[in-house]
Amino acid sequence: MEYLALAKSLAVDLTVVGPEAPLVDGIVDAFLAENKLIVGPTAAAAQMEGSKSFSKQVMAEGGVPTARFVEVFTSDDALAALAQFTYPVVIKADGLAAGKGVVIAQTHPEAIETIQQFLGGSLGEAGKKLVIEEFLTGEEVSFIVLTDGKSVLPTEPAQDHKTIFDGDLGPNTGGMGAYCDSRILTADQRAVVINKIIQPTLDVLRHRGTPFSGFLFAGLMITSEGPKTLEFNCRFGDPETQPILFRMEGDLGEVLLALAQQRLHEVKLAWNPDPSICVVLAAHGYPAKVRTGDVITGFDLAEAAGAKVFHAGTKQSGVQIVTAGGRVLGVTTGGSTLQAAVDQCYKAADHMHFDGMQMRRDIGQKGLKRW
Ligand code: AMP
Ligand code: GLY
Repeated sequence: MEYLALAKSLAVDLTVVGPEAPLVDGIVDAFLAENKLIVGPTAAAAQMEGSKSFSKQVMAEGGVPTARFVEVFTSDDALAALAQFTYPVVIKADGLAAGKGVVIAQTHPEAIETIQQFLGGSLGEAGKKLVIEEFLTGEEVSFIVLTDGKSVLPTEPAQDHKTIFDGDLGPNTGGMGAYCDSRILTADQRAVVINKIIQPTLDVLRHRGTPFSGFLFAGLMITSEGPKTLEFNCRFGDPETQPILFRMEGDLGEVLLALAQQRLHEVKLAWNPDPSICVVLAAHGYPAKVRTGDVITGFDLAEAAGAKVFHAGTKQSGVQIVTAGGRVLGVTTGGSTLQAAVDQCYKAADHMHFDGMQMRRDIGQKGLKRW
């Protein structure tokens, strides 16, 4: 595997895997086979993100609260399954589909059309098996833990903003901004998430002989009946990672080394109690076809205004930095209150400029009611 060869040639001590595709493809198995330290789940455990039906089965086995679901392979079975649900109904392609594999169908004809497209191959192999599930309502929360397969270290709750436009309107994106605030979950909700969602899920995977190691990301819906699981990811989320790490104190490298060496019980995570926020600056055209090559300015002023500006889709072109992807930058700040963090973040973000720049203006607004 090319990554393994690279890690060896650079004498890398510890590799931390960001995206899901190499995890599902077995990068961790390849590194472990050669005793190279790496943070992430094996291919078998990464199926928690790689296959929706796999993760639903694990949840069912562990009694984890989640939406009622049916798994189908054919349109006839899908039609029969639809009769068990009301609308809107959620149709999910089983495999990895880069954020395009979930459709919330408002009507029966829309559900049928989605099912036919997915089963017909619009997403390739990813859509050859489907999960049809009950639509849940509530507020979405991202909750990420670090685990070495035995110990679990929770991080702090965050909330992503998935659609491109303010007010949760428009098409879904990879995430247009997130904030991290301990008030997102009450103590009771946090206990439910850890004891009824995270722990039973990890227990099932361990009992199956495929323990999960790395970052386990639970995408939750806080329903009137309590937290329920929408999905699991097998990595740190984007843009949740930026505000979560902004609040983390201490040396993340030491923690990840302990995780990779299966001695996570020896370390602790410490948190700045103040909330944090990341506003994503996205390129012209995103989330459809993006334009690249637009010159970016304002880094110095934004950082002088107290922000950390994380690069995502950028590249150096001569002396300039230009756009090179959909989500270009993540402007991140903290504050003594959520409102203060929001105000400072937008002040900093307003110093940034590139042609066609898109930014939501309402990141963090939902959290203000908890203050
Ligand atoms: P997923 O990739 O499963 O997280 O789905 C992507 C997005 O679809 C989620 O972030 C939710 O906004 C939405 N979603 C997924 N499953 C459900 C559900 N059962 N009920 C309501 N919304 C859902
Ligand atoms: N922000 C959600 C994700 O990383 O999938």
